[in-house]
Amino acid sequence: MDKKITIAIDGHSSTGKSTLAKQLARELGYVYVDTGAMYRAVTYFAMQHGLIDKDGFDKEGLIKLLPTVSLQFLFNPELGFAEMYLNEVNVETEIRSMEVSGFVSKVAEVSEVRAKLVEQQQHMGENKGIVMDGRDIGTVVFPKAELKIFMTASAEVRAHRRYDELTAKGQEVSYDEVLANVTERDYIDSHRTDSPLLKASDAIEIDNSNLSREEQFEKVVSLAKHTIQL
Ligand code: DC
Repeated sequence: MDKKITIAIDGHSSTGKSTLAKQLARELGYVYVDTGAMYRAVTYFAMQHGLIDKDGFDKEGLIKLLPTVSLQFLFNPELGFAEMYLNEVNVETEIRSMEVSGFVSKVAEVSEVRAKLVEQQQHMGENKGIVMDGRDIGTVVFPKAELKIFMTASAEVRAHRRYDELTAKGQEVSYDEVLANVTERDYIDSHRTDSPLLKASDAIEIDNSNLSREEQFEKVVSLAKHTIQL
């Protein structure tokens, strides 16, 4: 039997990391973990408890309530991927809203939140055979991952993709609003003190501004198969 490896996929927001990671995991028969969903679920929890809104963020209040946050991925066979559960409730739809996207970088800056989620992520990857996507997977969560991919694309290309995705789901947003969110998240994600978005020195960078999904998928599958056979 082929050996199992750990695949870390990091990069800017809306570069199609999760679509690629999901496809790759299916192709290899690996587990897929979307760590962004975990940061989004904690953000949704903070919103539900009145700890974050447009006027401010009660960081200490969130830290105090963190032990009551339970996150779980449950596989949905109809969809073919795992959905995010927050304290036993499926929050897969709620966590993808523009409102959550607007607050999530603030929550992801909190070291206590990161420590809790990183521990859970490392535990999920103990047996390898995993594709995990996020911002700090190749640098912090699995610095020894056998294959690290860093995905990027121009902000405009990413905003167009995100805008199409949101409007297809019926959300009312403007392209300018989405572009502003993408640019703001890039800035906060890359400039935070704890685990900023960085390309690991041994990561392979893929700029997919001008690559089709199929071209990109073929490229990454061949990298993965090559690494598994090493
Ligand atoms: O991948 P995404 O857009 O769903 O991620 C949501 C936010 O969570 C993103 O703005 C940065 C943060 N994040 C992070 O800080 N570390 C991760 N491993 C994954 C996401």
